[in-house]
Amino acid sequence: MKLYICKDYNEMSEKAAQIVGSVITLKPDCVLGLATGSTPVGMYTRLAEMNKEGKLDFAEVKTYNLDEYYPIKPTNDQSYRYFMDKNLFDNINIDKANTHVLNGEAADPEAECAAYDKAVEAAGGIDIQVLGIGNNGHIGFNEPADKLVSETHKTSLTESTINANARFFESANDVPRHALTMGLAPIMKAKKIIMLVSGKNKHAALMEMLSGAITVTNPSTVLNLHNDVTVVCDEDAYNG
Ligand code: F6R
Repeated sequence: MKLYICKDYNEMSEKAAQIVGSVITLKPDCVLGLATGSTPVGMYTRLAEMNKEGKLDFAEVKTYNLDEYYPIKPTNDQSYRYFMDKNLFDNINIDKANTHVLNGEAADPEAECAAYDKAVEAAGGIDIQVLGIGNNGHIGFNEPADKLVSETHKTSLTESTINANARFFESANDVPRHALTMGLAPIMKAKKIIMLVSGKNKHAALMEMLSGAITVTNPSTVLNLHNDVTVVCDEDAYNG
């Protein structure tokens, strides 16, 4: 695991944009695995600026997002489709048909998840997967549990995640109780992984991951089995 400790959120966002941007430069038709949440917003802003400045071209890029609430309409301003359009896709020259987010309205969520895994494989797999980390160590919505799930699947959100995400909703009661999430297999099959970590509240989960031990109580620890993971964190997350 490669670790960059940046002085603050802005430096973390810049470093992460440079790393993701370099993948796009080397492979203009690459497949990006993308995350939502507060942490990657600064990186998405920088990527959009690099696109505007003519330094990065998204014309042939394909994207697959990690997760989506379930059930939720894509037009709901808390859906991850809405988030991605607003924070990245509407601000770059990507073909929207090449952007993929799990369908939070799928009548058959299991079929939706299975088709998503097939589509990622058919696209040639993910060249670089962007991840955040939950306060509880979740990646995507692979929450701490007795058993971790490989395939993309429907999952229940833990109280910790519901409370952490309540800040985006009117109240914790409005946070959907379920989500569709990429499983650990498609994440671990990504050729490269970059994890962004910002803020003191992520310190304990980050330290557990960096310790190298693998545990179901902190799903991010499975990343220790991947041979190309770069963690870009800020000093608050690293020092606690
Ligand atoms: C989002 C996702 C989540 C977040 C994590 C951290 O697509 O998969 O695992 O990365 O919950 O969220 P923030 O960045 O809001 O702290």
